[in-house]
Amino acid sequence: MKLSRNILKLVLMSLWVCLVLNLKAQTNPAEILQLNSSNIQEAIRNLALEGKVRILVGTSKMPFIPPQPAPGAFTKPPLPEGFDFSTLFSEGKVQGAAGDSYQVDSMGIPSIVFADGPAGLRIDPHRKSTDSTFYCTAFPIATLLASSWDTALVYKVGNAMGNEVLEYGVDILLAPGMNLKRNPLTGRNFEYYSEDPIVSGKMAASMIKGIQSNGVGTSLKHFAVNNQETYRNGINVIIDERTLRETYLKGFGIAVKEGKPWTIMTSYNQINNVYLSESENLLTEVLRNEWGFKGFVLTDWWAEHDPVAQMKAGNDMLLPGHPDQISAIINAVRNGQLSEDVIDRNLEHILSIMVKTPACKKYRFTNKPDLIAHTAIARKAASEGMVLLKNDGGALPLKSKSKVALFGTGSYDLIIGGSGSGYVNRAYKVELTKGLILQHIAICDTLATVYTGYINEVKSKLPAENFWFIPGIEEYKVPKELIEAAAMESDIAVVTLRRISGEGTDRQLMNDFYLTNNEQELIKNVSGVFHQHNKKVIILINSGGVIESASWKKFVDAILLVHLPGQEAGNAIADVLTGKINPSGKLTSTYPVNYGDVASSKNFPLSDGNPSIVKYKEGIYVGYKYNTTFKVVPSFEFGFGLSYTTFTYEKAKVNNNILTDSLILSFVVKNVGKLAGNEIAQLYIHAPGKTMEKPDIELIDFAKTKLLKPGEFQQIKMIVKADDLASFDAKRLVWVTEPGEYVLKIAASSANIIKEIKVQVPKEIITKKVNRILPVPDKKNDL
Ligand code: BGC
Repeated sequence: MKLSRNILKLVLMSLWVCLVLNLKAQTNPAEILQLNSSNIQEAIRNLALEGKVRILVGTSKMPFIPPQPAPGAFTKPPLPEGFDFSTLFSEGKVQGAAGDSYQVDSMGIPSIVFADGPAGLRIDPHRKSTDSTFYCTAFPIATLLASSWDTALVYKVGNAMGNEVLEYGVDILLAPGMNLKRNPLTGRNFEYYSEDPIVSGKMAASMIKGIQSNGVGTSLKHFAVNNQETYRNGINVIIDERTLRETYLKGFGIAVKEGKPWTIMTSYNQINNVYLSESENLLTEVLRNEWGFKGFVLTDWWAEHDPVAQMKAGNDMLLPGHPDQISAIINAVRNGQLSEDVIDRNLEHILSIMVKTPACKKYRFTNKPDLIAHTAIARKAASEGMVLLKNDGGALPLKSKSKVALFGTGSYDLIIGGSGSGYVNRAYKVELTKGLILQHIAICDTLATVYTGYINEVKSKLPAENFWFIPGIEEYKVPKELIEAAAMESDIAVVTLRRISGEGTDRQLMNDFYLTNNEQELIKNVSGVFHQHNKKVIILINSGGVIESASWKKFVDAILLVHLPGQEAGNAIADVLTGKINPSGKLTSTYPVNYGDVASSKNFPLSDGNPSIVKYKEGIYVGYKYNTTFKVVPSFEFGFGLSYTTFTYEKAKVNNNILTDSLILSFVVKNVGKLAGNEIAQLYIHAPGKTMEKPDIELIDFAKTKLLKPGEFQQIKMIVKADDLASFDAKRLVWVTEPGEYVLKIAASSANIIKEIKVQVPKEIITKKVNRILPVPDKKNDL
């Protein structure tokens, strides 16, 4: 009896609980639908048009477009007077992030957060609400990482960056950047990897995988053919179909297929009269149908052209967003200009990524990423990407306990990263002086006092550093007596050449690519005096971009390219100078003798004096492909870099001399020097070029050895696929590997070919036909 009463009680209670829950569910739909991968369609069906469109457009209300250089002008106009940066990026959930998406509570659709950038997360380090700090690690720039030619290292850096993204509550990192370095004056080259599409594509793929291994997303940018800052919001790139495919899209294709980025950011520019964000051919045909991209596409910030055309093309999300874009899209649907199916398609792209985000999974971020561990990664990565360009008479490494005379403002105020969206709000930077002293290398104090006094005085008259501005300092004219005194009391001189890189402007030819008069004079004077005392002179190139080197390199004993090495700069440079780390980096961009030796120099940043057009007349001949084909000798070639030890290449062979599908190439790299070191081996091909015009050589693969001890060797294996040899035939719209004899060139650099093996492709190999991308250019804009 008692038992049945209890059962009855239990049943009644359960009924009551069910009733309450049911009522609650009816009144609070948020608890009915929690967005996940299986209810995306249901969410789309349940959303009203306005709700859908709001998700397609970011939440910003500010139509701010950073001032652009006037058409044809090189200099960036100042920001509006009194402009407060903190208002620019701080509206959303994470202060200082670049943007947010719209949240729909009733569907469990979260707001996701987007933040820059390629050298580490960029958010505000301070918040009004708390004394806690939100610093991020300033990793070395992309150019340095690529110069390590080490995809595992790049993955590791990406993995550390992604941890900061996750733990600071961000969902998508607006990185990596991977536009091809067409010209050394491109302002944002520091954010990119290489002049070669294979290097760029492989590096970007590893970076994407590393970041995304944390369960956060990336935004591969800027898709595509975004190779200059001058007039960047409107520039119309005139290019031919083959060059577009083989040179500028190839790397993106690799990164998309191998890296699988969650999102892609379209670039501001036009290609043959069509804005990238409005190009259905690129965004839907190439990206999705050919390459199998499964994420969503977003605009670059304030790329506010025609929102309806952007939607139709498959540019799924418009960022940072503006209410006008929302109304334009809604009106277009209402008046029949735009089908709601397009909205649903784009929304599906977005939601299918959103379900993977930490925001959707309600991840409880800590605001405490492992900054200490990341510091060690940043330091190691920085030293691995430095490139030893000259080392006569074993000038480096420094002898232990030596005393160094540091010249050049950069020796006391290193540039560690670029400005603009690639800037990182880090907690500190290690100067070279500190790095050396920590490794028991003394520095000349008199020089240090004079230089720091000068730098402080110059800086006191300039605005403080911020994400859009890094103060430039004219090189100090050191009196001869001071150089003499320094030479007397030191063992060796180090002169740092410092360059600022940033978003928004291209670099200057004079006083930037070419050295300033003060710099030339400094190098000559220091070398003159130190050499008289039988003491050596080392140059550090502290730059995010290529500079002229042919006119002054003869005066000095050693040159180390340190790039922009991130917050651990001073420690990492000292690691290489002292030999704690044996340099192994190699150039991923050519150092030309003169600017005129760059194939695009006649068509950069504009063509024929036309303020909005740039013609890619050099076609496929970018970087070393131009140098090697037209016998233009560079100052330092693509792929070049020295070590404190020496390597030999032996036992090169292929498993088959006939290539129909793929073959295996192998060779042995041996350390025959006295110090442990790593070697970067490269594989180029020389094609028959009978039916297709071809550059003399093209890189098809590369490998970095492990740290080899003296006498140690390692066998390297590379798989060569027939596809790797293909070129794009723009008439037939197919990738073709022409028949004939190919030379596989195993090399230490693009100008140092060590072994050659000939292989035969017996008959033409053609891949399946693709669609034409470009509208045929009109006569006026013809190449
Ligand atoms: C840059 C992008 C960046 C975005 C958000 C734009 O100015 O071109 O690379 O991700 O701003 O900060």
